[in-house]
Amino acid sequence: MKIYEKAPAKINLSLDVLRKREDGYHEVEMIMTMVDLADRLEMSELSRDTIIITSQAGYIPLDEKNLAFQAARLIKEKFDVKKGVYIHLDKKIPVSAGLAGGSSDAAATLRGLNRLWELNIPLNDLKKLAEELGSDVPFCIEGGTAIARGRGEILEKISSPPQCWVILAKPPINVSTPDVYRRLDVNKINKHPSTEVLKNAIENKDFQQICHSLGNVLEEVTIPMYPQINQLKEVMLRLGAEGVLMSGSGPTVFGLVSKQSKVKKIYNGLRGFCNNVYVVRILT
Ligand code: C5P
Repeated sequence: MKIYEKAPAKINLSLDVLRKREDGYHEVEMIMTMVDLADRLEMSELSRDTIIITSQAGYIPLDEKNLAFQAARLIKEKFDVKKGVYIHLDKKIPVSAGLAGGSSDAAATLRGLNRLWELNIPLNDLKKLAEELGSDVPFCIEGGTAIARGRGEILEKISSPPQCWVILAKPPINVSTPDVYRRLDVNKINKHPSTEVLKNAIENKDFQQICHSLGNVLEEVTIPMYPQINQLKEVMLRLGAEGVLMSGSGPTVFGLVSKQSKVKKIYNGLRGFCNNVYVVRILT
């Protein structure tokens, strides 16, 4: 039997850091939503007790460094599955981009193997397993739009933002999330986004208020390291995006646009400035 799972990218409409915790992680409060740029996973059972990952993308690890591999190994161990699996990863989401591509692949692997091996693991237990793989993985299991707290695993589902166009632009830089968090001084954050104001704007489908309430404290670390991220934000705004923000720890910048007529202008205007540009929609 062969099964397929989609692994969509996420963007952060907000990312606030409240404090550094004793366990080394940071206490966060962020609003995340899924977009329709997605990796596609094909999974089939192997009678041999092994995990094999392949991908068309030559630039990702296929061994235990790959989060999909880790997800398969975890579910096999926890549920004492003696069968193996072959996973083909059709990568579309750029890596080290702030779009949770690896986390979403891991979540899709957990969902897919739950089906393939007929394990009947309830959603809440899948999210608990997901926590062991990374802070963003539980959200990738949940999907939709949610406020994430704790280190990212405590989720409050909220309604989705009003439909709009999302333009993603990834500059040719790879950002390390641990490095960004390590450099963040929680006592010197200049501007915290208001999760409450953004949440209300989303619930009220107030597009302009959403655009004004976007905020990500990790910009204060990543942008001084890579000033081209700020240039990219300015170019997007100049071309007509109504709200712009860096997603996650970066470097991807997204722009929100309410009118389709503006999309082409922004897309074309970004050419030459940034080669990795995607026009996507929010997954509702
Ligand atoms: O949980 P995950 O493995 O995705 O996190 C990668 C790194 O990002 C962690 O090792 C930690 O350094 C940092 N991080 C953090 N606080 C969070 C999430 C991630 O400090 N809430």
